[in-house]
Amino acid sequence: MEIIETQNAFVEIGNIADSSLQSIVTNYQKIAVLVDENTKILLPKITPLLAPKHISIIEIKSGEQEKKLKTCELVWEQLITQNFNRNDLLINLGGGVITDLGGFVASTYKRGIDFINIPTSLLSMVDAAVGGKTGINFLNIKNNIGLFIEPKGVFCDHTMLVTLPKEELISGIGEVLKHGILFDQKYWNYCSNTPLSQWDWNYIIKKSIQLKNTIVNIDPFEQNERKKLNFGHTIGHAIESYFMNSPSQLLHGEAVAIGIICESYIAHIQHKIDAITLTEITSTILSIFKHQQLPTDHQQLIAIMLQDKKNETSEINFTLIEAIGKSSINHTATTDTIVDALTYYSSLN
Ligand SMILES: NC(=O)c1ccc[n+]([C@@H]2O[C@H](COP(=O)([O-])OP(=O)(O)OC[C@H]3O[C@@H](n4cnc5c(N)ncnc54)[C@H](O)[C@@H]3O)[C@@H](O)[C@H]2O)c1
Repeated sequence: MEIIETQNAFVEIGNIADSSLQSIVTNYQKIAVLVDENTKILLPKITPLLAPKHISIIEIKSGEQEKKLKTCELVWEQLITQNFNRNDLLINLGGGVITDLGGFVASTYKRGIDFINIPTSLLSMVDAAVGGKTGINFLNIKNNIGLFIEPKGVFCDHTMLVTLPKEELISGIGEVLKHGILFDQKYWNYCSNTPLSQWDWNYIIKKSIQLKNTIVNIDPFEQNERKKLNFGHTIGHAIESYFMNSPSQLLHGEAVAIGIICESYIAHIQHKIDAITLTEITSTILSIFKHQQLPTDHQQLIAIMLQDKKNETSEINFTLIEAIGKSSINHTATTDTIVDALTYYSSLN
């Protein structure tokens, strides 16, 4: 079992049956497990560890569209109906939607009850379940309502990925590659040189969490250093939002992968990285992610970027890389450069 200490809690990586979950739950009277219609399949992996406690299962529908206030109301209602109080525990068993929404529900219920995250998608293991951001979407704006609060513990067991659809697994790889590019050349080299079928998931989960955790410990509330984690997300979020309103939606990691290519292009145009580095990033991403058709009207994407909550002035804010493993925050780019970056991506087909 690998253990990573976070600011106020810990992450355990390995077989959940060998983890400290069983002993931790003895501290609580009642336990609710939040699942969605797909992640409930994983309940048999954890319910034996929770016995002999009485367990309530709270099931919601799956998908990003469920990360909303109405779903929180449904969960709060069930907690109230079952007389949950401050000594009780919510376990979030699912992907990033479950851990984001469940963390928010738990930390606002009766001014806060403890919660534990058991992430089941790659994206939630390497990113969403750690770092203390919880929340929901509101008025069509992603993660607009929420709070920074850490779970009591996070338990990552890669065997839970077996049932995850392939495209969801690939989506999580977007964030894995981001961690390597931003912070660790050796990690990047492993990811770009090892065939996906041979990836050591324990290593990937541990390394990504360690890298994210180091940044979160320095800057938990995203005042400075944590902004580095937004690399690929300025353009990525705009593309994700654009496709949300179209019949062909893109998964978060798929959009971030495009964002990483475009924002690396901007770094190249601004003489921060050389052409060889840009080509290396581009070809690794395109060996894992299918090339996507972007809208030809780039101004629509730029209009979305101008609304980004990460902007601190009227200019679009970027984290840019200076080499693989090195990055810096608070850069801007002209709209012409952003259009060139989108055109560069489109030309790769
Ligand atoms: N809090 C943070 O720091 C942070 C960071 C990154 C992303 N996020 C959030 O995470 C969310 C995306 O997370 P996600 O990609 O995990 O989405 P998700 O929770 O919607 O999961 C993706 C799909 O996979 C299914 N699934 C999950 N695990 C499964 C398993 N083991 N077997 C079978 N099906 C499984 C889910 O039911 C869902 O249909 C977004 O809302 C995003 O905003 C939060």
